[in-house]
Amino acid sequence: MTYANVYNNCKSDPEAFWMQAAEAITWDRMPTKALFDEAAPLYEWFSDGLVNTCYNAVDRHVENGRGDQVAIIHDSPVTDSIEKITYSDLQTRVAKLSGALAERGIGKGDRVIIYMPMVPEALIAMLAVVRIGAVHSVVFGGFAAAELAVRIDDATPKAIIAASCGIEPARVVEYKPLLDGAIEIASHKPDFCVILQRDRARAEMVDGYDLDWHEFQQDAEPAPCLPVEGNHPAYILYTSGTTGAPKGVVRHTGGHLVALNWTMKNIYNVDPGDVFWAASDVGWVVGHSYICYAPLVHGNTTIVFEGKPVGTPDAGTFWRVISEHKVRSFFTAPTAFRAVKREDPKGDLVKEYDLSCLGQVYLAGERADPDTILWAETMLKVPVIDHWWQTETGYSIAANPLGLERLPVKLGSPAVPMPGFDVHILGDDGAEVPVGELGAIAIKLPLPPGCLPGLWNAEERYFSSYLAAFPGYYETGDAGYKDEDGYLYIMARTDDVINVAGHRLSTGAMEEVLAGHPDVAECAVIGVADKLKGQMPMGFLCLNAGCDRDHDVIIAECVALMRDKIGPVAAFRIATIIDRLPKTRSGKILRATMAAIADGADFKTPATIDDLSILGEIETALEQLGYPKG
Ligand code: COA
Ligand code: AMP
Repeated sequence: MTYANVYNNCKSDPEAFWMQAAEAITWDRMPTKALFDEAAPLYEWFSDGLVNTCYNAVDRHVENGRGDQVAIIHDSPVTDSIEKITYSDLQTRVAKLSGALAERGIGKGDRVIIYMPMVPEALIAMLAVVRIGAVHSVVFGGFAAAELAVRIDDATPKAIIAASCGIEPARVVEYKPLLDGAIEIASHKPDFCVILQRDRARAEMVDGYDLDWHEFQQDAEPAPCLPVEGNHPAYILYTSGTTGAPKGVVRHTGGHLVALNWTMKNIYNVDPGDVFWAASDVGWVVGHSYICYAPLVHGNTTIVFEGKPVGTPDAGTFWRVISEHKVRSFFTAPTAFRAVKREDPKGDLVKEYDLSCLGQVYLAGERADPDTILWAETMLKVPVIDHWWQTETGYSIAANPLGLERLPVKLGSPAVPMPGFDVHILGDDGAEVPVGELGAIAIKLPLPPGCLPGLWNAEERYFSSYLAAFPGYYETGDAGYKDEDGYLYIMARTDDVINVAGHRLSTGAMEEVLAGHPDVAECAVIGVADKLKGQMPMGFLCLNAGCDRDHDVIIAECVALMRDKIGPVAAFRIATIIDRLPKTRSGKILRATMAAIADGADFKTPATIDDLSILGEIETALEQLGYPKG
């Protein structure tokens, strides 16, 4: 069937389409219908089915003869080790951890935070939690204690599972002090922590509160899979929004399984048994969907890669892993390819490996610039597919579905909407804008299975953030346009979210941190274009009247504060001190105008600016920082 047939079938009869897709999942009780729209505009899928995620990702493959197939390959250049775990081993290890958690009182609906680096135990922990109907919330290792504390207070976990350390190329990140700090700051206190001790930095344990990963489960009885309702939450994943408080995106069990399983063949073009590799991190949505759940549910082998595109040990690492483990589909972020290209522009290292196993490459997380796509295509000689998605949707809204049909590639476009995503480009008045014209990208409700049904503990915020702007639609927060063939072009965010090295960050959260510096009266953070990371945050600080401290010292303190409060992942290094911020007469800071000046882009002088001369001051400050870059 062609893409157009499949897309249109889904549009004309979504019930039939998704019920058929649901047959690929093993249910304890088949749902009676797909869409539950009784509480519209809140929608759910497969709510009256009974199913277990872990059973579908692990046990059923063992029962169906895949027990000896490798489920997880942990390839860790930073520890110089490779470990392979079969589906049978995985079942044993997951069931045992589930049993130990259950014996300690973790049950259906209880939350468990997972704060771990790229080790297979992170996936084992995720699977063990959903096996007993509990709800995980994985927190990315590059976040600092304060960010972890915010998530602890919102998710109120009964337990936290962590590792003693993560290993970055230049340093060992000790997780335990960060974890202890977070629990100290948080008002909610989990009942206990489970710590995976790693040799590179062993954690100091608090007797009776911190339990050793191995000892804790040594004598536990393996736990069976607990069937849960299709609308039972499998996980909560926090993501950045406009304000400092992260949004807890909820993922329901049934739709998650059905949708992710569908994508593996139709979008990623892999069959069960093939090796699939998403070089992301379990802390991000890509890691949830395509390191852990989708490949395992579909019976693939997944790779947990603990390394970086460059420097572990060189820019040939990706090619070594693909060749050594026979990767069929590879997924990464454009920034990772830019990092490789910078070190090995002619692809000398590519030539050292046999990449004949590789069928296709997928890019997401930020706009894939045409140069990067062309470079990768030339080097790898396979299709390089840009696809667009968000934490909220959990999988791609737009893609080139190679397993269905290879559509023509248009550089700069992540291609066309996937089944169930009815994508519209709307003007401020909510009306559709003409083809080729920029507007807000909105998706007609209901979103397909697997997308967020709401935010954890924040129904009102779900409405105001996503549903209020265009009634009947989900507002993506991205702006872009459609061409005459229906291809989408994603151009910018419409909110205060920036994208740094494929990591989604909130400038609002950064401003809250800077405003906490005792000398800062007012501030703004914008995203400026960066050749490697796509965007980098830049801070503008206005100091309290009478402050005569050295500006360089204040900036260094702000950089350190950001690292301490948000974490190294914020990559906040550039800031300048100015007398005042450009604002509209109503007091709104003109961040988009400042970003345009920094990028050397054209901009319309806002009619409502209260004092035009201030833009000249911004220009001078940026020039001193070397912006716009040539
Ligand atoms: N735990 C602790 N610290 C982490 C971390 C983690 N899991 N991940 C990143 N950090 C730290 C880094 O060590 C770095 O710290 P530093 O300031 O001390 O150097 C900081 O956070 C910024 O990291 P990053 O933005 O990754 O920059 P980098 O210069 O180390 O690496 C790239 C640049 C391009 C190689 C890297 O960003 C990359 O691989 N990006 C791909 C991103 C990706 O896959 N995103 C997923 C979306 S699909
Ligand atoms: P996250 O929730 O971290 O996955 O970030 C989602 C955001 O990243 C989207 O809303 C976009 O702004 C951006 N993004 C992701 N993929 C793409 C893409 N292929 N092209 C353009 N922007 C993208």
